[in-house]
Amino acid sequence: MTLEIRRSRLADVPAARRLGAEAFGVPDSPPPEPEPDTWPAANTRPWVALDDGEVVAALGVRAFASWWHGTRVPTAGLAGVTVAAERRGSGLLRPLVDTALAEAREAGDLVSTLYPSSAGIYRGLGYEVVGAFEDVRFPMAALAAVRPPTGDVRARRATAADVPAVRRVYEDWASAQNGPLSRAEAPFTMEPDEMVGPDAEYTGVTLAVTGAGPDERVLGFASWSRGAGYDRTNALEVDDLVALTPDAARVLWRLLGSFAAVAGSVQVSTSGGWSGLDPARLVLPDHAASSEPRPYMLRLLDVPGALGAAVVAPVTARVPFAVVDPRTPDLEGAWVLEAAGARVGVTPDDGAVPGDRMTFTSAGLAQSYAGAQSTANLRLAGDLTGPARHDAVWDALWGGRQVHVRDYF
Ligand SMILES: CC(C)(COP(=O)(O)OP(=O)(O)OC[C@H]1O[C@@H](n2cnc3c(N)ncnc32)[C@H](O)[C@@H]1OP(=O)(O)O)[C@@H](O)C(=O)NCCC(=O)NCCS
Repeated sequence: MTLEIRRSRLADVPAARRLGAEAFGVPDSPPPEPEPDTWPAANTRPWVALDDGEVVAALGVRAFASWWHGTRVPTAGLAGVTVAAERRGSGLLRPLVDTALAEAREAGDLVSTLYPSSAGIYRGLGYEVVGAFEDVRFPMAALAAVRPPTGDVRARRATAADVPAVRRVYEDWASAQNGPLSRAEAPFTMEPDEMVGPDAEYTGVTLAVTGAGPDERVLGFASWSRGAGYDRTNALEVDDLVALTPDAARVLWRLLGSFAAVAGSVQVSTSGGWSGLDPARLVLPDHAASSEPRPYMLRLLDVPGALGAAVVAPVTARVPFAVVDPRTPDLEGAWVLEAAGARVGVTPDDGAVPGDRMTFTSAGLAQSYAGAQSTANLRLAGDLTGPARHDAVWDALWGGRQVHVRDYF
């Protein structure tokens, strides 16, 4: 056995696609033949593992920026991870992921994220679930009782000229969360021809607007697809419902609810679960909904880099901390975090003594950085040990934003 792990070449694509089709199901129509000038797709770094020249494992790295603590953080999104059925359990996954992540780190990525088919696959590699992208289905009855807006906010159909305003609404919302993609990189950008017009992915994009003429302001948008039929068994599908004010949320929900005579429910791609509820849902008087979550996992790639990029609460603090996790040696270390003026600096501490400071596992640090779990809960889960005197400050620094993500890859 001669194992080689390297970036995928055009000639590897058929074998890598066969592995992908076996693992994730054969696509209805085969993808077009890869062409040297269009493959790999923009911002995609495909990897393969070969044994004696045969492709035995593959994955793709999606390069994008995502919002964490008020900054756009370079992110390596892992996708299409697959090991040949006969080779599973033989230790191919770790070297393949390690090699792809080493290159990502080299390219400046500070964190890595993925949607697991099963969370346990990635825990040993330093990832932990920090949130979920979910399809939530609302019965029409739950939308029927949404109160009208109190101000002058109203609905209007978007045109191509409105796409810059739609992007601004998305960015206003996303920059206040932990996790959403910046949507600045293909294929996640919101392009006018994909959003509105004859070849659009949606039946319509509805805006919630206030003011008129040159003073009009866009306060929210919903991109929706009508689906087929009118016998109330079907659902209206909504890719994005983003509202910057409660009135904007009410206008958009009421617009969707106006289909009650011809659709049974509205399915919205949203995020946050119940503990970090999508604020647009707070205007719904009825909590009735069913959801299919896709958990989202996070791993840090560069501890000082990721923490040091954050804009945090204006707390002045000096907190020694460490990561001890033999399964992810690249993340291990002892540092001192210094916070002042809403910024954070993280420097290595050569004088650290085991047990002298708050000590995270890789999973614990990922959850804490994301604001997904408090230090108290990390201690219950065994993902944080050591002295607790800085726990409250740590939570104040990292705990203020909810995790949301609205793009699947
Ligand atoms: C997932 C997959 C890539 C893992 O490769 P593998 O060679 O079987 O992985 P390993 O045996 O080295 O196991 C790696 C870890 O995943 C865990 N694991 C493997 N399959 C798992 C499952 N179905 N559920 C939970 N954990 C699982 C192992 O226990 C191991 O954990 P550890 O590191 O804590 O010991 C492979 O099984 C596969 O291709 N499956 C089908 C496609 C798929 O699900 N891909 C993932 C898409 S996100």
